[in-house]
Amino acid sequence: MAVSRSSQKNRFLVLIFTTAVVALGLYLFNKFFGYGLALGYPEPTWFRIPALVLWALFAYLGVRVINAAVFDFAFRVRRGYEAPSLVRNIFTLVAFTILFVLIFKSLYTDVQLGAIFTTSAIFGVIIGLALQDTLGNFFAGISLHADRPFQVGDVIVVGQQKHTGVVESINWRAIKIRTFQNHIVLVSNSNAAKEAIEVCPRDNLNARLVFFGTLYTDSPAKTIHVVRESVRDADNVSEKITPIVRIRNLGDSAIEWEIKYWLEDYAKYNDTDALVRQRVWYALRRSGLTFSTPTLTLHTQRKAVIRPTTAEEQIADRLSAVDVFSPLSPEELKQLATATVGHVFAPSETLIRAGDEGSSMFVVHNGRVAVQVADKGGPRTVAVLSEGNFFGEMALFTGEPRTANVVALEETEVLEIGHAAMKHIFETNPSLAESISWTIAERQADLAAGSLQASQDSVHESAGVLASIKRFFGLR
Ligand code: CMP
Repeated sequence: MAVSRSSQKNRFLVLIFTTAVVALGLYLFNKFFGYGLALGYPEPTWFRIPALVLWALFAYLGVRVINAAVFDFAFRVRRGYEAPSLVRNIFTLVAFTILFVLIFKSLYTDVQLGAIFTTSAIFGVIIGLALQDTLGNFFAGISLHADRPFQVGDVIVVGQQKHTGVVESINWRAIKIRTFQNHIVLVSNSNAAKEAIEVCPRDNLNARLVFFGTLYTDSPAKTIHVVRESVRDADNVSEKITPIVRIRNLGDSAIEWEIKYWLEDYAKYNDTDALVRQRVWYALRRSGLTFSTPTLTLHTQRKAVIRPTTAEEQIADRLSAVDVFSPLSPEELKQLATATVGHVFAPSETLIRAGDEGSSMFVVHNGRVAVQVADKGGPRTVAVLSEGNFFGEMALFTGEPRTANVVALEETEVLEIGHAAMKHIFETNPSLAESISWTIAERQADLAAGSLQASQDSVHESAGVLASIKRFFGLR
């Protein structure tokens, strides 16, 4: 914005300067030669040439002033948008040509301008050769403006070289595209008119395809579910259409998949494709699904860099630091550790969705998560939980739907503890149910304090929660 203002100012100064120089020239011309510059000056013929040039200059400046008044003031200030540059250029060209013809006719009353244009062989050659491309571009530009197949801000793919980028301007000569490497590509209007152009309009939900492969041993139904859920809430993936995950080919060494997803802002498709691939990696990893590798390649890597589950001792250590599990003996902690499953989530991935059924709880092993509830202005964070904190216990112990969304704030590894493992622990440690019921009651009170709906519901006392835990787990 600042740049365009200063360049406008510069243009204005150049205009003033040119006018001053022309006026000075006019003055000197008049002074030394004693000739007036009135239109229709009689003799001699050659002396009328400087007059013609000067008047043409005046005419040009006049047209520029009118151009600025009409298009800068009337369009930008009054209507609030910029006039297309092609319209401006046509206006300048037509207005200047008319004025030039009028001036010429006044100075050279005896010359038939029409005859020069129609009979001059030289003019014909100039038009035929030199202006051929220019006129081609010009008329192609007019048809582009009339058709409006795309607009400034749209992403287009044009030409045999498949130039791809965001349209920055369309003028009388060329279409200016800014590529995703931040280069400028100019495609002449006449070339663009001959080529097929792929247009991805800005205000349209444009789709992308991302490919990956899995082993034949992996279940397709599971892959579809896991990948779709991991991709649908990635940044810039439209919420309006659920991504489609489908098998595109049963290849020699892999099930070949494609993900079709729709973008909010198509100009950011490179970043979004990358994010989708990243999500797929994490999702497959967590779910024990495997990327395919070419069968002819000897895969010598013994273990993946990030392991899906953590070593048992480390897990037992982590669980011993969780306040509600502190009464457990080392033996019980070891048993519980064996029953847990480790999962890794990408930053901003949703671990738990409010309203879902839930039959397990989670302990944060590494990283941080936010507990969020829906509010009028979007999600509201009620708590941030880090290493050693647990969540998901409310649905597990009460059998009710999940009360909040839990979203990873960074790459987060959690330990999942299922219903069966907890039941076993409760049977040998009845006091555990009590301490968990306090946490649940506290969290329920927190949720109720922040939400009108929840405060209207009865807030469970910890005794009530304890009773429902016992009922749900069949404890005495
Ligand atoms: P659950 O209802 O199973 O799923 C969402 C989880 O968010 C919930 O269990 C709790 O573990 C957690 N949660 C809800 N409210 C709070 C809170 N106020 N503070 C901390 N964690 C909470």
